[in-house]
Amino acid sequence: MASPTLTITDNRTGKRYDLPIEHDAIRATDLAQIRVAPGEPGLVSYDPALINTAACKSKVSYIDGERGILRYRGYPIEELAEKSSFLETAYLIVKGELPTTSHFKMWQRNITMHTLVHESVRHFIEGFRYDAHPMGILIATVGALSTFYPEAKHVTDLESRRVQTRRLIGKMPTIAAFAYRHSRGLPYVYPDNDLSYTGNFLSMMFKMTELKYRPDPVLERALDVLFILHADHEQNCSTTTMRVIGSSLADPYSAVAGAAAALGGPRHGSANEEVVHMLHEIGSAERIPALIKQVKAGERRLMGFGHRVYKNYDPRARIIKQIAHEVFEVTGKNPLIDIALELERIALEDNYFVSRRLYPNVDFYSGIIYEAMGLPVAMFPVLFAIARTAGWMAQWAELVLDEEQKITRPKQLYLGYDERHYVPLDGRAEGGPREDAVPPGPL
Ligand code: SDX
Repeated sequence: MASPTLTITDNRTGKRYDLPIEHDAIRATDLAQIRVAPGEPGLVSYDPALINTAACKSKVSYIDGERGILRYRGYPIEELAEKSSFLETAYLIVKGELPTTSHFKMWQRNITMHTLVHESVRHFIEGFRYDAHPMGILIATVGALSTFYPEAKHVTDLESRRVQTRRLIGKMPTIAAFAYRHSRGLPYVYPDNDLSYTGNFLSMMFKMTELKYRPDPVLERALDVLFILHADHEQNCSTTTMRVIGSSLADPYSAVAGAAAALGGPRHGSANEEVVHMLHEIGSAERIPALIKQVKAGERRLMGFGHRVYKNYDPRARIIKQIAHEVFEVTGKNPLIDIALELERIALEDNYFVSRRLYPNVDFYSGIIYEAMGLPVAMFPVLFAIARTAGWMAQWAELVLDEEQKITRPKQLYLGYDERHYVPLDGRAEGGPREDAVPPGPL
């Protein structure tokens, strides 16, 4: 077999270097030996947004973007969506194997016992304005949990990691539901441990004066499957954020708060919110061509389309599209689905999208279902965060235990001024553009 090496010739010096190839990758640090002369800086790899850089090794999720494949711990997402539950899938993602009956019962009990939050957390949430975005409440409140569990900073302690994982998976739905109830001026609904993980979330969201909330089984199952589909997705922006914060050995509550903050961006987990706003703005199929024209003119993005990895149909979007029809049987059809389907049809026949390999992603149809279920648009990224907490914790634990990992501290290509010297204030000439335009730049 040919040698698993990459031979590089530095044409500046004529020197050749053989770099080992492992897992279809070279180590960027192997480039550092390539320099024009002793004492000169060695080569670095420049990769803004880490588009072609593996920053870690992981065994949690596998994605084949060309073939539209997603597997959690080797299990195809389609099988888990059909046969598993979110809580079982969360066990698989966190522990690495599907649970036995006894282990699942213990896991279910361990999560259920952590659904309550300290009453001070409730008061903390009440401090937000009524119209505070629930994602902002979630981010702040999860971060605040680090002050309730100071022992969480012992990240190298297995039992501590296990307890914080149970607490976070257990408490995210409670915090999310409290944020929603706060925004509606409704009394908070406390966890009902008789219900399933997802049924309990729906109860905390929608229970009114009835003695016991009984979730519609079709909607409960649909949301549970949506949670499964959102549970992990290799090194996406928010998971990478989780790992970067974790690399400083910060506690997992602070890391999840940062990850949720990254998820909240419109390019990432808030895209589901932006899709519904976009579909409402379109209003009718007749107005789709006008939107497509704006997108092709570069004036806006087609939200819910495109993906860094999937250059084919996002397998999750395919499943979500099927779920929509099951949900509409109960809720009545969300008219946005017709606009979405027509928008997809037109886009996938348009070379602008086809040539850029832009297909519907996980966010394109999910919001339409959430809206049909009566969930407010602002809650959509919060639902994403509830599910993704399982993935964040699994990836964080991998990071903490990875002996190759250190604190994340990348290099840069410095293109700023060479050395220059301080000029006293009275020596600086007036004139030129206004202060808020000097220097012409980002701030
Ligand atoms: C999620 O990483 C993950 O796994 C994320 C996620 C997860 O589970 O964690 O899958 C969840 O975040 C899904 C993505 C949700 N975001 C959106 O739907 C927002 C709209 N999509 C885009 O902004 C974009 O597609 C990204 C952010 C998703 C991906 O961006 P990339 O990979 O950086 O691609 P790019 O911006 O370099 O675009 C490549 C080309 C460009 O055209 P040219 O400049 O080459 O002419 O495609 C165009 C872009 O303009 N393009 C789009 C587009 N997305 C990319 N054009 C119109 N509409 C879009 N949505």
